[in-house]
Amino acid sequence: MIEVEKCCITRYPAPVLAQKAKPVEEFDDSLRALADKMKDIMVENKGVGLAGPQAGVGLRIFVASPDGTKENAKVYINPVITPSGTLVTNEEGCLSLPGIWGNVHRYSECSIKAQGLDGKEFTEEGQGLLVRIFQHECDHLDGTLIADKLSTVAKIAARRKLKQLREDYENQNK
Ligand code: CO
Repeated sequence: MIEVEKCCITRYPAPVLAQKAKPVEEFDDSLRALADKMKDIMVENKGVGLAGPQAGVGLRIFVASPDGTKENAKVYINPVITPSGTLVTNEEGCLSLPGIWGNVHRYSECSIKAQGLDGKEFTEEGQGLLVRIFQHECDHLDGTLIADKLSTVAKIAARRKLKQLREDYENQNK
């Protein structure tokens, strides 16, 4: 059972963000409730994607909505991505790293194989922004944040902000 009422946005350096998330095995009501809650957290924080660990749940699930609306948010469970094409550099942010923006390299194309809330497997070709979202969210499921992917210069620029986030986290968890 997933304790959905306890789910909220998780920020760096919460340990769950650095861990490899576990496969979803039970496609039950609590999973459906989690997906719904994740969509709400994403919309409230004006994001276009949110992974399980960002809601405090170490499971391989993410939601994505290129226009940031709940209606268009789609759920991807136990996703496996196959990136292809060329590497494209673009600025990215992350709801778990508020205030940090930086250039991240991502592949220009990406197909995804995942399960829906009914457990049925589907395959999709990413289009536009989704290509980047798929790669960003799958990184989350493996414990990787954009802060790990920034250039050396951008990492130095983000240093103070990261320190602030660590202090905020410490104060909230005293
Ligand atoms: Co993120």
